[in-house]
Amino acid sequence: MSESVLEIKNLHAGIEGKEIINGLSLSIHRGEVHAVMGPNGAGKSTLSNVLMGHPKYEVFKGKVMFLGKNLLELEPDERAKAGLFLSFQYPFEVQGLAFTKFLHAAFKATHPKESISILQFRKELLKKLEELRMKEEFANRELNVGFSGGEKKRAEILQLMMLKPKLAILDETDSGLDIDSLKLVSEAINKLRGNEFSAMVITHYNRILKYLKPDFVHVLVEGKIVASGKQELADRLDEKGYRELLKELGVEEKVVVVEG
Ligand SMILES: Nc1ncnc2c1ncn2[C@@H]1O[C@H](COP(=O)(O)OP(=O)(O)OP(=O)(O)O)[C@@H](O)[C@H]1O
Ligand SMILES: [Mg+2]
Repeated sequence: MSESVLEIKNLHAGIEGKEIINGLSLSIHRGEVHAVMGPNGAGKSTLSNVLMGHPKYEVFKGKVMFLGKNLLELEPDERAKAGLFLSFQYPFEVQGLAFTKFLHAAFKATHPKESISILQFRKELLKKLEELRMKEEFANRELNVGFSGGEKKRAEILQLMMLKPKLAILDETDSGLDIDSLKLVSEAINKLRGNEFSAMVITHYNRILKYLKPDFVHVLVEGKIVASGKQELADRLDEKGYRELLKELGVEEKVVVVEG
């Protein structure tokens, strides 16, 4: 079996003492792309925040290995330096920080052994901007400030292309992208694929998976993975929705009673 990039074992984690991730296990090997789907509130963004080491989140139990290192012992910047990349469901805006400067600083921090001048960096950035059909002026703008929803998402893929992480966790990068952008973004991710790049793609839509052709598809419900399979699982989900498919698969359904 190929080398494991991410190995999550029986993870219990959450926020403010509340357990949201509830015994989750998942392994990603070198070069693999895994899709994680699941209903709203299932814990997908919580999982990505926990993996990135967001200070508000707590780990109660479990183990996470990332390229042979105990991920949970690393600070967020050490995780990024080790090659972990997280895109956000809602990317934040940073006033006063030019996009090129931000990316160059991020590159230097995550690739301390490679020296690249800001001019060389900018040249490469402009090439990638063109690949993503983004205007050159983007390079000069403040990070995400005034970017449209879809532009923020493309800007994240641009970061991914420039920073070349070992594992990318993409939280709903496809939400809010028009069809052409979705194709471009998928192609960009596919170009990165190889022995040195793996990804966990969190999504609600099968459309991006048609382009990405993930190696595995997982369904996350109430903080754990309740079903795993290949593209066929995403297709069946698309057709039936969570309730029906999970019932069909024999995954226990929890009935929520709303009082009042
Ligand atoms: N700060 C918080 N305090 C209390 N509960 C929280 C907090 N943050 C998240 N939660 C809860 O944790 C659960 C999981 O949220 P999360 O954002 O991980 O879901 P998700 O699977 O990403 O959903 P979506 O598909 O809507 O993005 C939700 O019920 C949410 O309300
Ligand atoms: Mg989410």
